[in-house]
Amino acid sequence: MNIILSIIYLIATVTFVVGLKMLGHPETAKKGNMTAAVGMGLAIAGAIFLTDTQVPTIIYVLIGAALLVGGIIGWLIAIKVEMTKMPELVSLFNGFGGASAALIGLVEFGNITSATETTIFATVLSGVAIGAITFSGSLIAWGKLNGSLKSVVKIPMYNIINNLFIVGIIVFSIFIVYTGANSQIVLYALLLAGLAYGVLFVLPIGGADMPVVISLLNSLTGIAAAITGILYDNMVMLVGGILVGSAGIILTVAMCKAMNRTLGSVIFGSFGEAAAAGESGNKALGSIKKTNASDSAIMMNYATNVIIVPGYGLAVAQAQHVIHELEELLVSKGVNVKYAIHPVAGRMPGHMNVLLAESNVDYDLLVEMSDINPQFNNTDVVLVVGANDVVNPAAHNDPSSPIYGMPILDVENAKHIIVNKRSMKAGYAGIENELFYNSKTSMLFGDAKAALTELVSELKGM
Ligand code: TAP
Repeated sequence: MNIILSIIYLIATVTFVVGLKMLGHPETAKKGNMTAAVGMGLAIAGAIFLTDTQVPTIIYVLIGAALLVGGIIGWLIAIKVEMTKMPELVSLFNGFGGASAALIGLVEFGNITSATETTIFATVLSGVAIGAITFSGSLIAWGKLNGSLKSVVKIPMYNIINNLFIVGIIVFSIFIVYTGANSQIVLYALLLAGLAYGVLFVLPIGGADMPVVISLLNSLTGIAAAITGILYDNMVMLVGGILVGSAGIILTVAMCKAMNRTLGSVIFGSFGEAAAAGESGNKALGSIKKTNASDSAIMMNYATNVIIVPGYGLAVAQAQHVIHELEELLVSKGVNVKYAIHPVAGRMPGHMNVLLAESNVDYDLLVEMSDINPQFNNTDVVLVVGANDVVNPAAHNDPSSPIYGMPILDVENAKHIIVNKRSMKAGYAGIENELFYNSKTSMLFGDAKAALTELVSELKGM
C-alpha cells in the first residue's frame, strides 16, 4: 500500500473515532456525523484512486456510475425522510450493509484456492453467514417498523426451528472448510440458512421488544464490515466495522437493560415466545376521566413540581417546540419542571433527547428513568405527552403482558396525571394501558401540538 493511501486511511480512522465520540452528545452530534462522513469520503476516494493494482478504465466508469446512482438515491431518501420514519430507514441501511458483506463473501469464495489459509476461508464464510442474517433480519425489522408486517408473528416450534438453522450454519461452515473450495452448493445452503435464520429470528419478536433487535442487527452490520476489512486487509473497514459492531453491542446491552431482558434470551429464542404469549392481555379496564386545556392549565399553574413524560406521539405531532414553550412558561411561574426520559421512548435510541435538543431544551432538565422514578412521589402533576408503553403499569402488574418485567416510568406515583393522546388506541406494543383508567388520571384528548398550544395559551392568560 502506498504511503499516501496509508496516511489517508489513518486520517479516516481518526475521524471515525472522533466522530463517534462527538455523536455521544446532542450538542456535538451533527458535527460528529459530518466529521466521520468526510473521513469515509476520503477513504472511499483513496481506495478507488490510490490502490496499487492496475484497474481497467471501464472499472472506474462502473464504480463512478454506481457511486452516482447510489449517492443520488441515498441523498434523496435522506432529505425526504420524516424524523418519525428514521428508525425504519436505519434498519433498511443496516440490511444493505449485511447484503454487501454477504455478496463480497460469495465473490471472494470464487477466488479461494487449495493454498488459501483456513482463517481466510473462515472469514469469507462468516461474512456470508452474518451478512445474510443481517440482511434478511433487517428487512423484516424494516417491515415491522413501517407497519407493513404484523407486530408479532407466531411460528410453531419457533425455538427449535431457529436453533436448527444456527446449527446448520455451523455444520455447513465446518464442512466447507474441511472439504475445500469446491463446495458451491453447500455455500448456497449456508447462505439460505443465514437468510432463513434472520427472518425467523426477527419475525416472532414484536411490540416493545424491537429496540433490542434493532441494536443487535446494527452491531451485526458492523461485525460483517469488520470481517470484510480483515478479508481485504483494509484498516479503515476493519476499524469502522469494529466501531459500529462494538457501539452496537454496547447499545444492545443498554437496550436489554432497559427492557429487562437477557442477551441470551434474544439470541436463542425464548424472547419471541414471551412477547407472543401476552397478546391475549387486552381487556376492558373501567372508565376514564376526560379533561380539557383550561382545567389542565389550572392544575399545572398551581403545582410546585411538574414532570413531563414525552413519547412517540410528541415526535409524530412535531410538538417539541411548543412543549419547550410550555416548560419555560411554567418555570417563569415558579414551577419546577423536568422531563422524564425512558430509554426506549419513541422509535430509536435517544429519540426523545434528539427531539428535545431540536427545540433547545436545557439538557439538565432531561432526567433518566432510574433517577426520575423516585421523584414521582413528590410530583404534583405528571404530563404524559404521546407516551403509552413506557408508562404502562402492566409491566409491573400483569405477568401475561408482553411488556411484563420491562422497567417503566412510575408516573402513577404522582398526585395527578394528565395524559395527552388522540384516542384510546394502544401504543407500539398493541396493549391496553391501565394507567388511563387510574382514578388520578385525566385524559386530555387531541393532537399533541394542538393540545399543548391550547394549554400554553390558557396558562398565558392566568
Ligand atoms: P407508544 O407506546 O408507541 O405510544 C405512543 C402514543 O402516542 C400512542 O398511544 C398514540 O396514541 C400517541 N400519539 C400518536 N400520535 C400522536 C399525536 N399526534 N398527538 C398525541 N399523541 C399521539 O410510544 P412510547 O410510550 O414512546 O413507547 C415506545 C414504544 O416503541 C415501546 O413499546 C418501544 O419498545 C417501542 N420501540 C422503541 C424503539 C426505540 S429504540 N426507542 C424502537 C422500536 C420500537 P393515539 O393514537 O391515541 O394518539
